[in-house]
Amino acid sequence: MDCPKKSFLFMILCMALLFNYNNGGIVDAATNIGLNYGLLGDNLPSPSEVINLYKSLSITNIRIFDTNTDVLNAFRGNRNIGVIVGVKNQDLAALAVSEDSVNTWFVTNIEPYLADVNITFITVGNEVIPGEIGSHVLPVMQSLTNVVKSRSLPILISTTVAMTNLGKSYPPSAGDFTPQAREQLIPVLKFLSQTYTPILVNIYPYFAYASDRINIRIDYATLNTEEVVVQDGPLSYSNMFDVIFDAFVWAMEKEGVKDLPMVVAETGWPSAGNGNLTTPEIAAIYNTNFVKHVDSGKGTPKRPKSGINGFLFATFNENQKPAGTEQNFGLYNPTDMKPIYKLF
Ligand SMILES: *[C@@H]1O[C@H](CO)[C@@H](O)[C@H](O)[C@H]1NC(C)=O
Ligand SMILES: *[C@@H]1O[C@H](CO)[C@@H](O)[C@H](O)[C@H]1NC(C)=O
Repeated sequence: MDCPKKSFLFMILCMALLFNYNNGGIVDAATNIGLNYGLLGDNLPSPSEVINLYKSLSITNIRIFDTNTDVLNAFRGNRNIGVIVGVKNQDLAALAVSEDSVNTWFVTNIEPYLADVNITFITVGNEVIPGEIGSHVLPVMQSLTNVVKSRSLPILISTTVAMTNLGKSYPPSAGDFTPQAREQLIPVLKFLSQTYTPILVNIYPYFAYASDRINIRIDYATLNTEEVVVQDGPLSYSNMFDVIFDAFVWAMEKEGVKDLPMVVAETGWPSAGNGNLTTPEIAAIYNTNFVKHVDSGKGTPKRPKSGINGFLFATFNENQKPAGTEQNFGLYNPTDMKPIYKLF
């Protein structure tokens, strides 16, 4: 049975009913999607207003990019919301020097919140692998892992990587890492594999589509068709998101990293900034379909059983990001907190 696409709210209600039916009434939440909460704007609502928004949407997983004190203080007492926090890229070099410096960072930035904020992950850097400071990621991850282990905390330590690690991503079974990625990423993946801690990945079909709109179908880029568009051996693909995800899975397998879970830390579609590719209508289609994909519990063709754990980018349009599409990934307008298009 499929939910008719009358409106997103209608669809979510219908899906919630289906889930209740399928789970004997156990599942209440409207969606399993997480949201990124970026702070690069000078007109953003206060953190407590934002938390009220998340509560009204039944969002139980959010991600921030650092350990912002105002935000973490506002999350105190909201332990049912899992929060991913991050070590800032510019702090990596200093932290890579010693476990002592990492311990000090932890005591300053994490410890004050442990009693009443539900910190689920600390990500060591965002999209620094592959790159100049990519080699700092592993030592900081190792030190942080020791710190949380020594305190028996259930916080996972990982990093967030972009798809620029892939030299090849099409067809998915040809997925392969670039030489620089191989050098910096493989040791990280092997380290994560020891404890099956997920690697966090940012997957943006939008950028691939925007760079080759002649050859890429919009319905394939926006998860808006059920038609098989890519046949890769026995695996059939109808959307580009799954192709990219599975290319990463294949690339990991070729390096001997099997079954490592992947969390989609970011995906989304801008609602403005690049002509008719970036309208609220297209952004709504992509994001709605992605939420549907996550909530269906179906994984990708290569990992059909594991489901997708995913976060949309982002809660608000951020006016201090580079001009153009970068400022327009938000689901909500920061000044009045109104949705830019109907999604939840
Ligand atoms: C913390 O967040 C995670 C992820 O959403 C959730 O599974 C867990 O139940 C939360 N913890 C509490 C105490 O609610
Ligand atoms: C954008 O406009 C061009 C030129 O009119 C058209 O060919 C293309 O199909 C449009 N793309 C979308 C996504 O609407």
